[in-house]
Amino acid sequence: MKFFLDTANVDEIKRIAKLGLADGVTTNPSLIAKEGRDFKTVIQEICSIVSGPVSAEVIGTKAEDMLKEAYEIAQWAPNVVIKLPMTEDGLYACHELTQNGIKTNVTLIFSVAQGLMAAKAGATYISPFVGRLDDIGVEGMKLIRELRTVIDNYGYKSEIIVASIRGIAHVEQAAIAGAHIGTIPGSLLPSLWKHPLTDIGIEKFLADWGKMKQ
Ligand code: E4P
Repeated sequence: MKFFLDTANVDEIKRIAKLGLADGVTTNPSLIAKEGRDFKTVIQEICSIVSGPVSAEVIGTKAEDMLKEAYEIAQWAPNVVIKLPMTEDGLYACHELTQNGIKTNVTLIFSVAQGLMAAKAGATYISPFVGRLDDIGVEGMKLIRELRTVIDNYGYKSEIIVASIRGIAHVEQAAIAGAHIGTIPGSLLPSLWKHPLTDIGIEKFLADWGKMKQ
């Protein structure tokens, strides 16, 4: 399973990249706005830290505007991926960009039908949002299992990025479901390698070692 980092914070990305755990990065307009820095500068800096795909999202809602932004963003770095919303205009832009060899990530997917449409339009990545579905009382992880089945049934090339991850259980269940990628908030990642029994175990080993030396 690949890990993308769901953040636009360069310090978080550097910390995780040092561990070899950053296979890519996804950003969105909210994450970029949170950093309070210029969009292009941030994306180029992230693309220089991580060699894998880095998603940068368009703001336009009309296909014409999306494509104008996409062709500009695609020049910023060789590993940039154009993130598009799951709308009719987004699908049109996805199809055109795919035909022109530009990688895409279709975002804000909440149903099997939407994932199927994005895969058929040629999306490199499709991003179903598990946390936001859980928020409205719908099991987000069921969508991941179903999309994995659909992709396998027809051999679509799109990879599933599990998005809107809120906790360790989401990461574990996404891996068990066979999702290709999980995009994980920078703040959540450290909890993936931590366990209280590990800390207790280290303390006990050190205490026993200390006794032996006395
Ligand atoms: C990533 O591509 C998504 O934009 C992100 O995971 C959304 O997460 P949120 O639902 O916690 O905002």
